Order: sequence, then structure tokens, then C-alpha cells
Amino acid sequence: MDELEIQLDEHDYTDLLRADARAGLSATPKWLPPKWFYDARGSELFEQITRLPEYYPTRAERQILAARAGEVAATTSARTLVELGSGSSEKTRLLLDALRDAGTLATFVPLDVSDTALAEAAGAIAGDYPGLRVRGVVGDFTRHLKLLPADGARLVAFLGGTIGNLLPADRARFLSELRDSLEPGEWLLLGAGLVTDPDVLVPAYDDAAGVTAEFNRNVLHVLNRELGADFDASAFDHVAVWDEEQEWIEMRLRAGRAMTVHLPALDLTVEFAAGEELRTEVSAKFRRESLTRELAGAGFDVRRFWTDPDARYSLTLASSR
Ligand code: SAH
Ligand code: AVI
Repeated sequence: MDELEIQLDEHDYTDLLRADARAGLSATPKWLPPKWFYDARGSELFEQITRLPEYYPTRAERQILAARAGEVAATTSARTLVELGSGSSEKTRLLLDALRDAGTLATFVPLDVSDTALAEAAGAIAGDYPGLRVRGVVGDFTRHLKLLPADGARLVAFLGGTIGNLLPADRARFLSELRDSLEPGEWLLLGAGLVTDPDVLVPAYDDAAGVTAEFNRNVLHVLNRELGADFDASAFDHVAVWDEEQEWIEMRLRAGRAMTVHLPALDLTVEFAAGEELRTEVSAKFRRESLTRELAGAGFDVRRFWTDPDARYSLTLASSR
């Protein structure tokens, strides 16, 4: 593997975390952005989530990719596959295989905020795909899209449904920035969860084994380690609710008792009332029409739209205008 390219070094990471923690923990209601789940432990917990019986999105996306990767490769003839929020890049191998078999693939650019997950995935793929140039980028896809390598024949994969973790205004900004960073005719492959039965949705975010609860609490461990905070993570309960109006799952941490938390790195003290909830993630689910409209509004033309047999998950192939 080539060297990891660092767009987000430890210093930037801590600065951004401080800013987000200060803003979110001083707000009413309190919130934290989900990108801070993913230290080494958080990335590992997410991988465990993908193997849970209740968490269908990973399996559904893999099923669509297995059926359609050849069509994606034939339609895009991409030389460079960029992957945003790449994590383990495990399903991405289906795309790499198809693009390699089509004879067009030269470079793979995984980008992730989690340096450990990225280094592991990029190293494994470089080993398994001889001749492929692998340029891992440690970065934030809400800040570093302009810095992606350009060759005029890129396919940007944004898989896993991570688009749903952005709030609507951030999502619109992200899609516009992504479009602006692409040449006309370059491609986006977007994985997105669909609105489905709450009896399926809620358990996917509140599994019986408690792995998602641990993942949720992990953000408090990150604040403790990075900012010297003294959260008692075990005193927070995991909450996952389906918001029918917004059509998103909301994950929260509910204080089991009144607590005073100190964040010395921010010179901040935060009070939690018993039962008070801290929002840690939204995971929006989509409908075909709204997704097509949002993509069109950002300057993408939808060329293909596929779902899994249960219509719980979608993969959209769109070209940049
Ligand atoms: N794409 C993989 C992983 C999804 S988990 C899959 O489909 O299974 C979400 C991934 O996005 C994590 O690896 C996390 O570290 C990364 N991530 C979250 N917010 C990010 C951001 N703002 N910039 C870059 N990566 C981010
Ligand atoms: C990464 N992202 C798409 C996951 C999701 O489903 O929203 C994160 C996750 N949160 C709880 N479980 C999984």
C-alpha cells in the first residue's frame, strides 16, 4: 500500500472533537455528531453490528452489490474507485472485483475518519489486489472532498447507508459539495436504507445482544479519553426510537440518574438531569422519489436504482451533471 494520506491529523481531530463537544453538550437538547463513535473500538463494534441477526442493511447491500457490481462496472468504466466512510471496505471488494474484471480499474481511494479501520482495510486490499494503487485518505467527508485525487473517470461509492447519518441540511450540503468536486459524467454509487416496518427497523438499532448499546456508549469513552471527561458511560441507557414524521431512527443515551460531568479540556461542566437524553445519531431512511429529488437537486442524474428483495435497502447509481 502507498502511504496513508493524512488530511485530518491528530491535532485537527481533537480540535474538531472539542468544537463539536462544546456545541453539542451546551445545547438544549444535548447532542453529539455520530462521526465520533469511530475510534478503533467503535469501528470494531460497528463491524460486530454488521454481523448481528437484527442488522439487515449490510446483508441487503451485499446482496444488491453481488447482483449488480458487473453492471456498475460496465456502466461506469471507472479507473478510480473512491470510497467515502470506507470502514472495513469489505463489501467494496465486490466492486473492485467487477472493475478489475472489466479491465478499467487502476486506483482505489478509501477515505475514512477512523485511521485504524482505514489502515487495516487499505493494507488488506493492497495485499489482495496486486497491481492496484491503493491511496488511503484519513479525512472527513464533510470537509475534504475537494482534495480527492482526480482522473476524470471516478466512481465514488458511499455505502452502508451512512448518508442517513447526516441531518437533512448537512446532507444537501454534502451532496452539492460532492457534485462540485466531480467532473461531469463521473459517478456516484449511493447505498441508502429505505423506509420499512418499524418492527424491523427498531431491533436493527436495539439488538438483543446489546452490541449497538455498547457502540452508542462508546462515544462517551472517546470523550473521556480525548478530552479528559469523566462520563460514567455505564450510567447511560441506550435508546433507539423510530421518528415516524422525520422517517429516521434516532439513537440517544439516557442518563440513569442526575450527573455532573467535567470536561477539563474544554473547561466545561455539564449537568444531566435523571432521564435526560443526549442525541448521538440519526439514521434516516429514504424513499425512491425523495432520494431521486435530493440527488437531482444536488446535480446528479439517477441512472439505476436497485433494491434488495425485501425492499428495505437501495443502491442508486447516479452521474454527475
Ligand atoms: N462503509 C462501511 C462502513 C460504514 S460505518 C460499510 O458500509 O459497512 C460508517 C463509516 O464512516 C465508519 O468507518 C466511520 O469511521 C466513517 N465516518 C463517519 N463519519 C465520517 C466523516 N465525517 N468523514 C469520514 N468518515 C466518516
Ligand atoms: C454507519 N451507519 C450507516 C450505521 C447506521 O445504520 O446508521 C451506524 C449504526 N448505528 C447504529 N447501528 C449502526
